[in-house]
Amino acid sequence: MYLVTGATGGLGRRIVRLLRDRGLPVRAFVRLTSSYRELEERGAEIFIGNLKSDRDIQKACQGVRYVISAHGSGDSPEDVDYRANIDLIDAAKAAGVEHFTFISVLGADRPYDDAPTFKAKRAVERYLQESGLRYTILRPSGFSSNLLPLAEQFRRTGIYLLIGDPDSRTSIVSTDDLARVAIDSAAIAAAHNQIFAVGGPEILRRRDIPKIFGALLNREPLLINPPLLALDGIRNLLGLFNSKAQKNLGTLRTLLAHEFYCTHEEVQRVEAVYGFKFETLESFLRRHLAI
Ligand SMILES: NC(=O)c1ccc[n+]([C@@H]2O[C@H](COP(=O)([O-])OP(=O)(O)OC[C@H]3O[C@@H](n4cnc5c(N)ncnc54)[C@H](OP(=O)(O)O)[C@@H]3O)[C@@H](O)[C@H]2O)c1
Repeated sequence: MYLVTGATGGLGRRIVRLLRDRGLPVRAFVRLTSSYRELEERGAEIFIGNLKSDRDIQKACQGVRYVISAHGSGDSPEDVDYRANIDLIDAAKAAGVEHFTFISVLGADRPYDDAPTFKAKRAVERYLQESGLRYTILRPSGFSSNLLPLAEQFRRTGIYLLIGDPDSRTSIVSTDDLARVAIDSAAIAAAHNQIFAVGGPEILRRRDIPKIFGALLNREPLLINPPLLALDGIRNLLGLFNSKAQKNLGTLRTLLAHEFYCTHEEVQRVEAVYGFKFETLESFLRRHLAI
């Protein structure tokens, strides 16, 4: 039995679908308010709980062989990115889980102290490495599936909003490829007790993304490109009445202010270990947008 947290998220949903396509048993950890019907219809066992409860986490781990931690935090990184993963590692160990796959983030090893999610991921990585559990830590770049709603908006309006430096480099990973890597990590010996940076096969400039949209959707892009200072202004204003939201915006600011891409060597390493070629952003979009 696989346990997948964040099973209704962009990545988690794909992991559950792929496990079911392979006929494998999976328990999907979902909230009562999540939209989980599709997962149930595909034959996943639904576990309703909240990752803020260690009791729920302990119950969910019973009878599980493989854990894939793929949840995101929304607005509470300390509780969900950090605490829930620590509880999940402890519960997995107590339940005799064989392998723990943790979805971290590219750049988790950089000292971004203004970014609560990066701090939490860094601490969880360390805890997992010292836990004695067999693990794989995946540090992905931005997900291609995040771009689908932006591409749909672009299809209607031609507009693409890009905050910050349009020349900064990025790798976009196919969320479908990442789901495959997350699942296969338990079975591939060369992935055991390893950390992988996981990005798509090309290093893009952020300004290339609207160009790819334009070529696929046959529309001239209209780029709206406010400077990062605009976000800082909003953040400072927000801090006057919501300091938690101000703090959490630090993660977004970090993502916009720095380059996040995988080197060709890093891509080749993952492709060699997992035995397949990663798809480009264009290929992912072609498959998912009705073009
Ligand atoms: N998106 C990216 O570009 C990116 C890049 C690098 C790394 N990552 C990492 O990859 C992982 C997956 O990201 P994603 O974009 O697929 O996430 P996502 O779409 O934001 O989904 C988050 C998931 O976590 C669940 N969740 C949040 N709080 C919960 C709680 N208290 N109890 C139970 N479930 C809870 C959500 O459930 P609901 O449906 O109920 O809200 C949802 O299923 C995250 O760890 C993220 O940090 C993402």
